[in-house]
Amino acid sequence: MRHAMATAEVGDDVYGEDPTVLKLQQLAAKAMGKEAAIWVPSGTMGNLSAVLAHCHERGSEAIVGDESHVYQYEAGGMSCLGGVAFNVIPTDLNGELPLEALSAAIRPDDQHCARTALICLENSHNRCGGSVLSLEYMQQVKALADAKGLAVHLDGARVFNAAVALGVHVSAIAHLVTSVQFCLSKGLGAPAGSMVAGPKHFIDRVHRLRKMLGGGMRQVGVLAAPGILALERMSRRLAEDHYNARYLAQELSKTPHVDINLDLVHTNIVVFRLLKSSQLTVEDLVDALQQHGILCLPFRGGVRLVTHNDVSAEDCKQAIVAIRSLLEFARAIKFNGTGNSHANGAVSNEAFALKAYE
Ligand SMILES: Cc1ncc(COP(=O)(O)O)c(C=O)c1O
Repeated sequence: MRHAMATAEVGDDVYGEDPTVLKLQQLAAKAMGKEAAIWVPSGTMGNLSAVLAHCHERGSEAIVGDESHVYQYEAGGMSCLGGVAFNVIPTDLNGELPLEALSAAIRPDDQHCARTALICLENSHNRCGGSVLSLEYMQQVKALADAKGLAVHLDGARVFNAAVALGVHVSAIAHLVTSVQFCLSKGLGAPAGSMVAGPKHFIDRVHRLRKMLGGGMRQVGVLAAPGILALERMSRRLAEDHYNARYLAQELSKTPHVDINLDLVHTNIVVFRLLKSSQLTVEDLVDALQQHGILCLPFRGGVRLVTHNDVSAEDCKQAIVAIRSLLEFARAIKFNGTGNSHANGAVSNEAFALKAYE
């Protein structure tokens, strides 16, 4: 990717003259089966510009899940910058917005109500541990939206992971929504950038909004070039990440003092919880793993692991050894006052500063 960046043919993309950006946009539109696509600097700007393009009448409303990225992690930009009201409904464990709640959330055409303009879905679903919405479910949402004259926007930051998990071409997912945002970074490994794809008139609107938001950039072919590799090559290797994530999840399910719902591990994200019996807090485990070069996050009361191009099967084996050793060590300190690490000595006592139990 660095080589592609260094050798990229570039032009001024504000004037639509960057050949590498134009090529990426064509490839993205084709991959999604949409009329047009546009490069944006981040997933957040992609979602923001797409939602503002759909909800162009100020005071209109977007139905979003309470666990969705657009609602939880995008700084309320749609309300703040676009005058879009969020109509927030509960999210099921697997990332679905229950159809009944969705249907009930759509406002009547009444002067007292904000005008419902949009339904936002997320696939795969970040806060639901990378779980995947089925095509059947998405088809039902589309039918509801069509019947009510609403658009559907998909936050498909990881839509290629969803496609691999479902065993379908990504266009089969995109076909069920009006617009889709997907990230070239994250699992696809590009340093930056996202794409928004949809009907031509909609992408024209997103283009103007991108400019308004400061996302019109000049020789941005240096970022589109790795984006092309992300789209064409990296999307083909995601099954390996899913395999590694499955391995992690299965081993964790056999690890004492760990709780994990294997039914929700569909893609490259693994979320597990520590039982009280572990004698360890999530934060201490995350800190200790970091000292062993294993980077993960405290997440919704548990620990979130993500597999990607730079995490090998061997790395996953070592992560499991480290987690088990740390758990054993924590209990040994609690109950014996001393911690001798087992598991091939993978974890040294000194490296594991268990602040809470000193
Ligand atoms: C589901 C989802 N949507 C959107 C984004 C935003 O992407 P970015 O960080 O590029 O703004 C993320 C980032 O983690 C995400 O997980």
